[in-house]
Amino acid sequence: PGSTVPLPHADLAVGGVPLSELADRFGTPAYVLDEHEVRRRCRAYLRAFPDTEVLYAAKAFLCRAMAHWVREEGLGLDVCSAGELELAVTTGFPPERIVLHGNAKSPDDLAAALRLGVGRIVIDSTSEIARLAAAVPPGGRQKVLIRVVPGISAGGHAKIRTGTDDQKFGLSVADGSAQHAIARILGQPRLEPVGLHCHLGSQITTVKPYLSAVRRLIGLLARVHDQHGITLPELDLGGGHGIAYRPGEPALDIACLAAKVRAELARGCAAAGLPVPRLVIEPGRAIAGPAGVVLYRVLAVKQTGAHRFVAVDGGMSDNPRPALYGVRYAPRLVGRRSAAAPEAVTVVGRHCEAGDVLASDVRLPGDIRPGDLLAVPVAGAYHLSMASGYNLVGRPPVVAVVDGRARLLVRRESFADIQERDIGL
Ligand code: LLP
Repeated sequence: PGSTVPLPHADLAVGGVPLSELADRFGTPAYVLDEHEVRRRCRAYLRAFPDTEVLYAAKAFLCRAMAHWVREEGLGLDVCSAGELELAVTTGFPPERIVLHGNAKSPDDLAAALRLGVGRIVIDSTSEIARLAAAVPPGGRQKVLIRVVPGISAGGHAKIRTGTDDQKFGLSVADGSAQHAIARILGQPRLEPVGLHCHLGSQITTVKPYLSAVRRLIGLLARVHDQHGITLPELDLGGGHGIAYRPGEPALDIACLAAKVRAELARGCAAAGLPVPRLVIEPGRAIAGPAGVVLYRVLAVKQTGAHRFVAVDGGMSDNPRPALYGVRYAPRLVGRRSAAAPEAVTVVGRHCEAGDVLASDVRLPGDIRPGDLLAVPVAGAYHLSMASGYNLVGRPPVVAVVDGRARLLVRRESFADIQERDIGL
């Protein structure tokens, strides 16, 4: 994954700025985001999917600058809370290009979506239908998509698989709840069903599950057409496009996905006698992930019987992914040259539990010592957005780099920030 460039003096540069310089200027831990890389990835999607609405999935990573870049590049946005929605709208993001998701949308989420005028709201359960219809002001009509569970198992880890029937998202085709929900929506004059949505899961590295989803959704579009005499004009295939976290790992081939999905849609719709629906996709990780690097400072090195532990100044509070999904990263020593032979070490965080491991069994120079700087590539997605306040450690800043310049996008969470929210006795 592409955004880091080796420098002759064993440092790495992102966006033309040496990482050691960024660590000195902004402190550690720090998330570094390569603006060009984000923009390049947005453009690559639009090139591969020319007649498709590409929505960036904000849950992967969102800040005002990110919303701005994504909009400038011509993408829409997928949000799943009033917080994500409101933040995007403060940057001037056009609400009609935003889609609201969620299996349990709060009254605040729905109120914000209706007040700000989001393009579509994705219906995730039958009980949500009447609740949403009642919240639409008289005379109004809200466009909705129906989140369908196609009964397909795909995705990098059980915790991020959402295409199978026995999980919390969406309405199953197999047990008829999707069909039932569509009939209910058609009975609500304030709701306008415009299409079907499905999200199979995340970190999917093969095209095949998407093609199965296309076939099943076309089957449902055809049934809706036969039963109700309507043609739903949109098909949203969600996100989930897998990326490589370490050299040599597989990633989903976006161009291949685009070509095969388009062919499958054309073939399936022709066979069903339906017009080809407008395609929507929602990539998050594949846009933000490879564009980010996280920087840590080594604080301690310890040899136990079996392991050499390298402890850094961050951990599961800024990256819970290894602990949650067993994801493996490839940290690198940056900022100094080492001639020492690589040795197997376990990079651990600073938090109060043994499971706070960032990378087990990775090879780093044998002379690694406190004060060294480590960079962990592919840290742009689901790091800051999943960061916690565990042990009252402030969340790291986000620094953007572009054309040899760095600027702060999100400042470090300070002790004052943390203490301010605590009312006291
Ligand atoms: N659309 C919907 C409805 C989603 O639920 C998601 C992700 C996406 C799009 C974007 O998926 P992506 O292209 O980023 O894979 N925290 C986990 C990932 C959870 C994904 C949740 N939904 C992780 O760190 O791997």
